[in-house]
Amino acid sequence: MFTERYGNYQNYYSMRGDGSVLDSRIKALPYDLFENTSVLDVGCNNGTITTQVASLFNVKYALGIDIDLTLIKKAEKHLEFVASRIGPSNDHCPMISRHNFYPISSIKKFSRIQKKFQGSLNEQGFPHNVQFQAVDIQRWQSKKRFHTILALSITKWIHLNGLDEGLLAFFKNMHAVLETDGALIIEPQSWDSYLKAAKKNSIFERSLPKIRIRPENFPEILEQNGFDLQTVVSSEDTKPKNYEQKGFLKRDVFVYRKKRNP
Ligand SMILES: C[S@@+](CC[C@H](N)C(=O)[O-])C[C@H]1O[C@@H](n2cnc3c(N)ncnc32)[C@H](O)[C@@H]1O
Repeated sequence: MFTERYGNYQNYYSMRGDGSVLDSRIKALPYDLFENTSVLDVGCNNGTITTQVASLFNVKYALGIDIDLTLIKKAEKHLEFVASRIGPSNDHCPMISRHNFYPISSIKKFSRIQKKFQGSLNEQGFPHNVQFQAVDIQRWQSKKRFHTILALSITKWIHLNGLDEGLLAFFKNMHAVLETDGALIIEPQSWDSYLKAAKKNSIFERSLPKIRIRPENFPEILEQNGFDLQTVVSSEDTKPKNYEQKGFLKRDVFVYRKKRNP
């Protein structure tokens, strides 16, 4: 786990107002899923997790993809912001403790690192190891292979939009882009949350009766599609303000390994 290897670096990574603290799901996962690996973050939203993973671990490269171009633009801005605050390099000072070196006021005054580091994805270390792309995962194909795929809180959207066929195609596609022995990290949303989404959206309401697969069937389906369950980790967050009940939000994250011989 993160704290075993890196200690409590939470303070170094508190970015109030822009990205918050280290994501509790990432913190709960074994760090070797990221160290020296290439990472694909599917449904990266505003890029917080992609940027955290790429900057805190020794990630070769990280690609964050999201269907929403506005979010991808936010992700690029967020990356620039985090990169602009990294302190000067020094042999005795690991990247993790160089975070938030420059105060936010200086970034505002002297401007951020500009997009120049957003060229092609390469392995020169943070921030050059990060790229964001606006794409629909259901239409996306990649020649690049990844060691680790993050699919956090995304399966419900793929399922409601693409139905069972879309979900199965997603699992197959993720299998194809993973390196042998690579890891698929999934945080599936509950069936209850599908019902909630359907109440708010008439397209999803019409999708619901056509869906036969339930989130509890995912382990069996992934097993049939060339994955082995390696571990399940749980993380706890304080519930966001808009949750009906106070308390903690428990999140289960499943780590699957691509089978060597499916
Ligand atoms: C609930 S958010 C999860 C964000 C992040 N992965 C996390 O767990 O904190 C789901 C994200 O998936 C994106 N998304 C939904 N459908 C997608 C698709 N077909 N292709 C790529 N991204 C998609 C949404 O735009 C949104 O940013």
